[in-house]
Amino acid sequence: MKKTMWGGRFKEAQHDYFKTINDSIEDDKFLAIWDIKTSLAHAKCLLEAEIIDQGAYQSIVAGLNEIAVQFATNSLQPQSCDEDIHMWIERLLTEKIGTAGKKLHTGRSRNDQVATTIKLWLKDAYDEHLKQLKLLIEALVKLSKEQIDTLMPGCTHLQIAQPISFAFYLTAYAYKLKRDYQKGCDLFAHLDTCPLGSGALAGSNYPLSRELSQSELGFAKICYHAMDAISDRDYIADYLYFGNLIVTHLSQMSEDFIIWQSPNYKYITLSDAFTSGSSLMPQKKNPDALELIRGKAAVMNSRLNGMFGIVKGLPMSYNKDLQEDKRLVYSAYQDLTSILAIMPHIIETTSYHADAMKAALKHSYSNATSLADTLVMKGVPFREAHHIAGQLVAKAIEEGKELYELDLAELKIYCPSIDEQIRQSTQYYKTIENKKTLGSTNKKDVLFMIADLAKWLKSIEKDHMIGAQDKKLKTV
Ligand code: ARG
Repeated sequence: MKKTMWGGRFKEAQHDYFKTINDSIEDDKFLAIWDIKTSLAHAKCLLEAEIIDQGAYQSIVAGLNEIAVQFATNSLQPQSCDEDIHMWIERLLTEKIGTAGKKLHTGRSRNDQVATTIKLWLKDAYDEHLKQLKLLIEALVKLSKEQIDTLMPGCTHLQIAQPISFAFYLTAYAYKLKRDYQKGCDLFAHLDTCPLGSGALAGSNYPLSRELSQSELGFAKICYHAMDAISDRDYIADYLYFGNLIVTHLSQMSEDFIIWQSPNYKYITLSDAFTSGSSLMPQKKNPDALELIRGKAAVMNSRLNGMFGIVKGLPMSYNKDLQEDKRLVYSAYQDLTSILAIMPHIIETTSYHADAMKAALKHSYSNATSLADTLVMKGVPFREAHHIAGQLVAKAIEEGKELYELDLAELKIYCPSIDEQIRQSTQYYKTIENKKTLGSTNKKDVLFMIADLAKWLKSIEKDHMIGAQDKKLKTV
C-alpha cells in the first residue's frame, strides 16, 4: 500500500470505492499552474519568516518551475496516490528535490491553498471572458451600423407590436452584454482577495506575511478573516452567476435567431458553418449551434443551483463537499468560453434579409398606436383616439388595405381631425421617426446608442488589463 501524505494515523488503505469519489485529480488538474504559483509565493513567505533557508527555497523554486514546464508539455501522469492536484505537485516536488520538498507545506493547509489557487485561476478566466465579451459587443455594434435603416417588427408576446429598426434590436443586446461586462468587473473586484496564510481555518503558527503572499500573487487585498477566507465560496457562485447572465442573454438571442431562420419567417439565413444536416432528411439545415447555446444555458443554470446547494447546509468551516465546486466551475468555464467564442462568428456570418423583415410589417397594423398618438396630438383624448384607431384597423383589415391606403374622406368620417399628413404618418418607417423619447427606436437615438457603445468599447480598452496576470511563473 502506497502511503498517502497524510497517512500517519491510518492502518488501512482507503477503499477503492471511496477513492473513486474522494480523488479529485481529474477534476482539478486544470489548476496545476495556479497551484504552483501559489506554492512559489508560499515558499517566499517561508523564506522571509526564516522557516526555510535560502538553499531550500532555491531548490523549491527550481523544482516547481521544472514541474510547471512538465505540466505545460503534458508530460505528467498522476498516480493512484495523488488524490488531488495539491498532493500530486507536492509528491512530484519531493521526489525531485528531496527533503526541501517536504518543507513546502509548512504553515499552510490545503484549505487556504485551494482557495488561493482557484481564485488565481478565476481571475484569469474573468479576464478571458471580458475580452471575449468585448469582441462580441463589437460585432453587435458593427452589425447595428450596417442595419441602421432595416425595418422589422418589434414583438411582445411574440406578436407584432410596433415597428423598430433591426439596429435597435441589436443594440438592445449590446447594452445587456455591456451590463454583463460591468458586473464581471464588479465580481472580479470582490474576488481579488488573497486567502493564503489562513491555514486550515484558524491562521498559521508561523509568522508568515500575508501581505507578501498577496503582493507576490497580484491580489488587490488580503482576505482578512482566516475562517471566512477558507470557508468562502461566494466567488464561485458569483462566477456562475456571471456565466448565467451571459448565456441567458445569448440563449434569448439564439431563440430569436432560431425563429427567424424558420420557414415562416426567413428573416435570416445562418451560414452552413453553424448549422447541421439531418441523417435522414436531405433538405434539412438545422440551427444546432443556437439550439446548443439555448441548451447549455439550462445546464449553466443548474450549476449555479448546484453550488448554492453545496454551500447552504455546511457547518463552519471547510467540508469536503466544497471539492465538488471544481466540476461546476470548470465545466461552466468551458461552456462559457466556447459560447462566447462562437457567437461573434454566428453574428458575422449570418445573412440578414431586410426585405423579409420589412415584408413582415405588411398588414401587421403595428402602426395603429402611432396613429392613436398622432390623433392625441390633435386634441383627441387618448382613450377615444385608441378606439378610433381600432375601428380603422378593423376597416383596413376588411378592405385588405394598409392604414395609409384608406380613403381620406372615409377616414374623416371616423375622425374629422385626420388629414393627409396624419394618413401618411402611418407609413411604417414614419412610426419610427415619430418616436420622441430618449432611448427609442428613432434613428437619431439608435445612432446615439451606437456612438455611445463605441465610446464605451474604446474606454474599456485599458481595462483589458483587469485580471490580466503574469501567466509565466516567476523565477528567481
Ligand atoms: N481537493 C480539496 C478541495 O478541493 C482540497 C482541500 C482539502 N482539504 C481538506 N481539509 N481535506 O476541496
